[in-house]
Amino acid sequence: MARPRVFVTRRIPDEGLLPIGEACDLRTWEGELPPSRAELLEAVEGCDGILTLLTDRVDADLLDRAGPRLRVVSNYAVGYDNIDVAGCAARGIAVGNTPGVLTETTADLAFALLAASARRVAEGDRYVRAGRWLTWGPMLLLGPDLHGAMLGIVGFGRIGQALARRATGFDMTVLYWSRTRLDPAEEARRDVAWADLDDLLARSDFVSIHASLSPGTRHLIDAAALGRMKPSAILVNTARGPIVDQAALADALRRGVIAGAALDVTDPEPMAPDDPLAGLDQCLIVPHIGSASPATRGRMARMAAANLLAGVRGEPLPNPVVPG
Ligand code: DGY
Repeated sequence: MARPRVFVTRRIPDEGLLPIGEACDLRTWEGELPPSRAELLEAVEGCDGILTLLTDRVDADLLDRAGPRLRVVSNYAVGYDNIDVAGCAARGIAVGNTPGVLTETTADLAFALLAASARRVAEGDRYVRAGRWLTWGPMLLLGPDLHGAMLGIVGFGRIGQALARRATGFDMTVLYWSRTRLDPAEEARRDVAWADLDDLLARSDFVSIHASLSPGTRHLIDAAALGRMKPSAILVNTARGPIVDQAALADALRRGVIAGAALDVTDPEPMAPDDPLAGLDQCLIVPHIGSASPATRGRMARMAAANLLAGVRGEPLPNPVVPG
């Protein structure tokens, strides 16, 4: 019997590629950069399964080009806003993602960004390397304390909750906003309190975003939301870039509406070198590395491979995305 034909859109860790290669007729895109749209459309033709990254747009055009054999799209990410999930479901194509395995690693980075932007770590590094460190200075690079500060978490799924655990360990007070509220006993056990979004924005010293991107959360943090925040507040985003209106953020930082921002995600990605945010010292930016530890990327690869292999065999996916 012919082996299922699959395309993996970038080299992922061997924990995922090896089992796929053993069971399938595998083609992997070997470029450092993603395939162009034309290359992607050509590569998916006649495939039974595709393993995609968040840089690959899976829409009706792509599904048309893949053709009727396509049974599964396995995303190497927990987020799946790059995929038309309803369109896949309408064609009977399963979609999988990698929830859970990257929670702690992403929360580590969110906390690192929060601490680094408060204590001006990147600015300090630039200052030293520029030869500007002349003496110990009583007023040099002052930044707010984390302990005793209020952290507002927007979106309280796995990663938001993991950030809350870190923050309470640093003696921060934690507010959260999400559509579904924990029951009061659970809030007490976790030492967190629910607040509506406007209230959370107004009271928090740090605001960290952990919602998924959907039409309802696109530009959730716009000029009006930024205007509700404290002038001393710092915004952290490790979720998806378009949740923040980036032009409004640059303007708010320039005018001192808020004090700082730390971004693992931008809109678009990669950020253009001449983006207004890139010129602002009070904005810390890293290139979407929330899940970037070897162990976590290995676990994501195994999980994405398991989804892909189940899908091409016509079996239920271990981690299916359910159309919302
Ligand atoms: C995800 O999984 O959605 C992250 O953004 C990348 O690991």
